Amino acid sequence: MDLPKEIRYRAYSDWSTEERAAIAENVNKSPWHVTYHIEPKTGLLNDPNGFSFFNGKYTLFYQNWPFGAAHGLKEWVHTESEDLVHFHTTGAELLPDTKHDSHGAYSGSAYEIDGKLFLFYTGNVRDKNWVRDPLQIGAWMDKDHKITKCKDVLIQQPSDVTEHFRDPQIFKYDDQFYAIVGAQSPEKSGFIKLYKALDNNVENWEEVGNLDFGGTGSEYMIECPNLVFVDGKPVLLYCPQGLDKAELDYQNIYPNTYKVCQTFDTKIPKLVNPSTINNLDYGFEAYATQGFNAPDGRALIVSWIGLPDIDYPTDQYDYQGALSLVKELSIKDGKLYQYPVEAITSLRSSSEPLADKAETANIYELEVTFAADQVSELLLFADDKGNGLRLTVDTANGKVILDRSKAGVQYATDFGQTRECDIEPTETTANIFVDRSIVEIFINKGEKVFTSRVFPEAGQSGIQLTAGETTGTYFELTK
Ligand code: FRU
Repeated sequence: MDLPKEIRYRAYSDWSTEERAAIAENVNKSPWHVTYHIEPKTGLLNDPNGFSFFNGKYTLFYQNWPFGAAHGLKEWVHTESEDLVHFHTTGAELLPDTKHDSHGAYSGSAYEIDGKLFLFYTGNVRDKNWVRDPLQIGAWMDKDHKITKCKDVLIQQPSDVTEHFRDPQIFKYDDQFYAIVGAQSPEKSGFIKLYKALDNNVENWEEVGNLDFGGTGSEYMIECPNLVFVDGKPVLLYCPQGLDKAELDYQNIYPNTYKVCQTFDTKIPKLVNPSTINNLDYGFEAYATQGFNAPDGRALIVSWIGLPDIDYPTDQYDYQGALSLVKELSIKDGKLYQYPVEAITSLRSSSEPLADKAETANIYELEVTFAADQVSELLLFADDKGNGLRLTVDTANGKVILDRSKAGVQYATDFGQTRECDIEPTETTANIFVDRSIVEIFINKGEKVFTSRVFPEAGQSGIQLTAGETTGTYFELTK
């Protein structure tokens, strides 16, 4: 939603109790609230931030402008979970309240060090002429969730980047702390800088160099770079804005992509033998995916189910955006898989064989098998007039197509109303998670993923098996 700067950058303390209550009341009117996903209490949610393991629990923050469905003065909102499925907000927030983050506590990451959680993030600062000074700054959160900011800027804007320099990800490799930061060159191409913590002091960073990951630089900016290790292999997740479509076929305004690499040479610095660039997600919206290696080694990721610069049907209710399920990465036969963590099955409260259903609560999981050599079709969020979200699985020619053109309230139609990907032409499975206005589809247990919003009209909650031989199970989900 377009709102004037004066509103979007108004100090938090200037919003009265009455104004906050009116916004909350409007949010409550939405028919599209999700149940087992994270969405903002009010306002706009975008990137997942600070995903980490701290004090025996998983910590996950999200970017939020709490006063409406627009990108304004951002803060981080803290949530916690023991099982990576049930998250609750703790009330802790990283606020834009110092001269180093005066125009937003932008995205970043976190790492537990000596009993405290170190938050490494971008302070968005603008001067009177609205010229931006992107600062990489830090804070410490203690076990009572009290946040104390570091006094000094940790990384200043280097001379070879523009004002687009943000989203530090801290990680440990060979017992050494490193950070990568998304950047734009003066020639307007996107790249990634690598830093190293001197003596492993995370308040003292030294530049190692520009990370060679086999990128062509056709993108004008790289947002939210993340390096995680899957079976010892470095996997780079990143958001290359403006990427040339000759390099990668994508339809969303900006893609979220990955490369699987062989080794990490910290000296050059270089990700050795990177794969070609791939779409991380084939759905209508998944962006700013953040990952980290948990203490047990698992590479866990979570995505923003939303995109920059898009208006959503929930905007009229003063909120926008949600986070995806937490997904675990694995590599099988050289391919990257992403699948919800095992504990997701704890949401299953009842099950029955998959068959047509005139109505549901739109809160369920389907586990489906599509037989080989045929074209199958499923209609979700269906009504009796033939409307719905159409999933076509063509196991003869090896294609999956998701068609949103007749599914609920239409938006972002300029970017197309279908999404598709190739699969092996053979029997195929899908696990489909529906949560009122979210659908997450995992083909072949995460070999390909489609993450999307759908905003059904009243009565659009049926399931129809409209073509092909489809068998499976319908699970009702309860948080
Ligand atoms: C990505 C992003 C980040 C930035 C944050 C601001 O969606 O633009 O690059 O830090 O959002 O909210």
